[in-house]
Amino acid sequence: MSQRAHDAVAAGYNSGSGIIADKNRAVAAQLGERLRLRAGPLAAADLGVGDGAMLAQLAALGLPLTMTGLDVSPAMLRLAADRVPLKTVHAPAQRAREVLPAAAFDVVLAHFILAYVDRHALLAQARELLAPGGVLSLVTTTEEGGGPFFEGLDRFFLKSRNPLKRAMGRLCQRGIAQSHVPQSFASLEADIQAAGLVVLRRDTMRQHITFNNADEAYRFGIDEGWAANFLTTPGVPVRAGKALARWGTRQATYPFSFTHVIEMLEIGMAPSSTNRHTERAGSLDAKGIA
Ligand SMILES: C[S@@+](CC[C@H](N)C(=O)[O-])C[C@H]1O[C@@H](n2cnc3c(N)ncnc32)[C@H](O)[C@@H]1O
Repeated sequence: MSQRAHDAVAAGYNSGSGIIADKNRAVAAQLGERLRLRAGPLAAADLGVGDGAMLAQLAALGLPLTMTGLDVSPAMLRLAADRVPLKTVHAPAQRAREVLPAAAFDVVLAHFILAYVDRHALLAQARELLAPGGVLSLVTTTEEGGGPFFEGLDRFFLKSRNPLKRAMGRLCQRGIAQSHVPQSFASLEADIQAAGLVVLRRDTMRQHITFNNADEAYRFGIDEGWAANFLTTPGVPVRAGKALARWGTRQATYPFSFTHVIEMLEIGMAPSSTNRHTERAGSLDAKGIA
């Protein structure tokens, strides 16, 4: 079911502009600095590779990368293989170690997959994949900044007098409940430390997003995949989920604004359980995409 939802998102996946493009540019610049310091060929594994645009940006820096892209969606893997020379692996990130070698990757990427993959499982898998001195590049939204979204869910759906709208609200809640996106950086950092890893660098990007109408909300949530979990409701075919989402986005009032808070982390092995350091904490601000 989840595979079909992500295959559906692949058709409209947008890494050319907006959040993904801004994130890829920022990560390539930061991570590129770190990877340039390493000698010899670099093995990279991208868990939830999507359309491969992040690997393509790293390769464009001239880094000597051998690339592996893992994803649950065959359609995404095809997009990635068309974009960059990489080995594709069709598997869930939760089981990456069953299909990829241990301690073999100088860089492991996991960008925007915590909506679908349990954080603890992901961190444990990534830790096993990392070669000595390797770095995990983890990018995720957090729930910070999502207040207006949750208020809107209450106002337009869950507290509506219309039973159809309340049912729609419950479907949205079910999708949100499936997500493993952390509440904040602090809670994520605690999980990182518990996994025997340490944050080497943190940058925070705030994307101010405004939907001026229902079409913009639909495009963001469904076509670009930010609400892909809505399409994975058991028993609801993807096409029906899209029709429901189309109807749902028409029930809100516009303009509607909220902030996407995105944490971009470089993570390494903890030298010891008591030794933690943060090399740099920064903040990037980017404009909304709507
Ligand atoms: C929002 S996209 C992010 C793609 C890419 N990492 C990027 O930053 O552009 C999420 C990707 O995760 C994939 N995905 C979803 N669930 C997954 C899982 N359990 N294991 C691996 N990949 C998964 C989707 O197919 C999709 O390609």
